[in-house]
Amino acid sequence: MPRILAIESTCDETAAAVVEDGWRVLSNVVATQIDLHAKYRGVVPEIACRAHIENILPVIQEAIAHGQVAPATGSGVSQPMAPEVGLTESRASASDSSFILPPSSFDFDAVAVAHRPGLVGSLLIGVTAAKTLAWSLGKPLIGVDHVHAHLYSVVLEKNEHPPMPAIGLVCSGGHTALYLVKSWTDVTLIGSTIDDAVGEAYDKVAAILGLGYPGGPHIDRLAATGDPKAIAFPRPLLGPGSLDFSFSGLKTAVLYAVRGVPTKDGPHIRDERHQPPAPTGQRLADVCASFQQACVDVIVKKLKRAAEKYGAKSILIGGGVSANRGLRAALQGGGTASTSGGTVVSPVLRLPVYFPPLKYCTDNAAMSGGLAHVYFEQRRFSELSLDAITFSQF
Ligand code: KG4
Ligand code: ZN
Repeated sequence: MPRILAIESTCDETAAAVVEDGWRVLSNVVATQIDLHAKYRGVVPEIACRAHIENILPVIQEAIAHGQVAPATGSGVSQPMAPEVGLTESRASASDSSFILPPSSFDFDAVAVAHRPGLVGSLLIGVTAAKTLAWSLGKPLIGVDHVHAHLYSVVLEKNEHPPMPAIGLVCSGGHTALYLVKSWTDVTLIGSTIDDAVGEAYDKVAAILGLGYPGGPHIDRLAATGDPKAIAFPRPLLGPGSLDFSFSGLKTAVLYAVRGVPTKDGPHIRDERHQPPAPTGQRLADVCASFQQACVDVIVKKLKRAAEKYGAKSILIGGGVSANRGLRAALQGGGTASTSGGTVVSPVLRLPVYFPPLKYCTDNAAMSGGLAHVYFEQRRFSELSLDAITFSQF
């Protein structure tokens, strides 16, 4: 039962996890930097990189300490997990930053790291930590693609492997892309956004509406009490057969719905001091519900197109936006959204749809530890020259 220590630092979460057998999550530690970036309404690379430096060793140490708690073995049945530790905006002191665990604690078979894609400064922190650990402990190193790992996240805790070929959708703050997944190591990009990622559109619309950052959870919550038909926002499909996405026009449509359409004769430079106030109450909920419905309709339509084109046997959905209750409910036929992950046969797509458990939708290291198990079994290890790469490649 190979046990893998995985490290994540691609963007603004510093995370580490110990994963056994590719699905059993023994520990899952995430130090989020959300509060550091919230006032800028987006991730500031330099701040992210510095916070990773502070967080990386305490996070790894905590994941290793909790990863020692081996759950009782079972035949594919999810076991109670070791406590999940959330070091929200952890502030490590200098004394935290050295390993204090005895060598016997390092009971794992490989060190995995998401070394692409991401912010180069952020990536380098995780990659350097992973290489140092692998080299000093004499363990193999396994570099994985973070987007690829989002697809694999559906396997965590449940150990249910979807029938393939599958259509995989990664929808997050940085990515919105469709993949043909023939096996966990045979994955082909078949469509992607030509402008904003869907999570990015959520974050920007939340900013227009005066909601907090990240915007997805706020809009998702407000949408539940709004009328999704209140405003007819566009559903950009980019022509018949296209598997690409575009969300920036939809975002602008929300801006115009809230602030009014600029006229030909109107001022070309908007004066922020004289903007109409952001909607509140029922109107705010209606804007959120209508925006969310437009996103969901486009995603469902593209999944359907892709599944028909490639004769898919299942659908996998990962990334931060896979936590969205509207999306889950739409694919589950309008019923109550499941948040526990696992399979539901979608009446809309007529295929089993696999979502990750909620805690593995947003960035985490467990998904990389799971995917790395596939490479471990194939003895596909990385060289110690493994580098940080800013783009996705698999
Ligand atoms: O996967 P993730 O943690 O980071 C990236 O790799 O980008 O995704 C973060 C994104 C943010 O844009 C956030 O607004 C969005 O996921 N998000 C959601 C929800 N929860 C997080 N979007 C819609 N509904 C949600 N419930
Ligand atoms: Zn991500």
